[in-house]
Amino acid sequence: MGTQKNKLRFSRKAMQQVEELISHYPEKVAALIPVLHIAQEEFDHISPEVVDLVAELLDTTPSHVYGTANFYDMFRFKKRAKHEVIICRNLSCYLCGSERLKKNLIERLQTEPGQSSTDGRFLLLEAECLAACDKAPVMMVDEKLFEKVDADNLPEDLTRLLEKS
Ligand code: FES
Repeated sequence: MGTQKNKLRFSRKAMQQVEELISHYPEKVAALIPVLHIAQEEFDHISPEVVDLVAELLDTTPSHVYGTANFYDMFRFKKRAKHEVIICRNLSCYLCGSERLKKNLIERLQTEPGQSSTDGRFLLLEAECLAACDKAPVMMVDEKLFEKVDADNLPEDLTRLLEKS
């Protein structure tokens, strides 16, 4: 076994899960995706240290770990934001002004889609469809859906959160 020069360690419980997973595959690296899930759960996001740790445990390279994690939307590379704001970018919402809404949100949250605000409080995301096309444009704030959103008049729940900063 190689020596662990990496300072970051999984908790005992997470390490047991990782070992259990690895035991199901002929090659350690085949457990990469489930191990990344455990890592994200344990460390909040996939930092460069997490990439190194996972690479070391699965006998692969950091670039392979990073490249695989980067391919999937479900892995984060930055600390989880306190609040998630999701806007729909699909056709019905687009035709009903979601672009203007997006511009306004970028300005108010001071971030870009796919990124967290500089204070780390808000993560702005785009979704393909939030299943409320007849109420377009729609957006979500922390899993609460807002319909027929007026770009110049953001939902009160969001403005309240913005005022708290
Ligand atoms: S297109 Fe926006 S909710 Fe479906």
